[in-house]
Amino acid sequence: MSRIRVAVLTVSDTASATSTADKSGPAIREILSQSGAFSCNDHLIVADDIQSIQTAVKDWCNRGDVDWIITTGGTGFGVRDQTPEAISPLLEREAPGIVHLMLSASLKYTPMAALSRPIAGTIKHTLVVTLPGSVKAVKENMDALISGGVVNHAIELIR
Ligand code: MTE
Repeated sequence: MSRIRVAVLTVSDTASATSTADKSGPAIREILSQSGAFSCNDHLIVADDIQSIQTAVKDWCNRGDVDWIITTGGTGFGVRDQTPEAISPLLEREAPGIVHLMLSASLKYTPMAALSRPIAGTIKHTLVVTLPGSVKAVKENMDALISGGVVNHAIELIR
């Protein structure tokens, strides 16, 4: 299979004002670069704002050259956390199994994983997965998604 084309969306009021505050986006890109299976040419930072999140995701899906959109941040219970609310209405097919995988893997590390509200699913030929905003959580979730080959197989099926 050709390389999986990934777009990363950092969702954070702080990082959208000061890009150097974005730690989780670069952490995702670093993990992807360690595997020859992925290429990441797109990375945007937006505020915790439903319209900004939706615009970025819709643009990538409409472009048709992104296999996997990974968002990071805004999945929790904070009053400004609204990544799931932004992505949910855009999904054509939900992927509860991927959500289950992320939560069950994460709960082995910390009960605080229960405070994330991840969603996953497909829009056209693109898989969308929402990760929490901490670097630790990103590493743990990315390992669950990649190490067993789950995302790779999902992309094979939707391409
Ligand atoms: N998931 C994993 N695997 N590891 C973690 O350390 N932290 C949790 C949770 N998910 C965590 C995790 C915490 S403390 C919060 S508040 C939520 O993710 C929400 O994060 P977010 O609002 O930055 O998206």
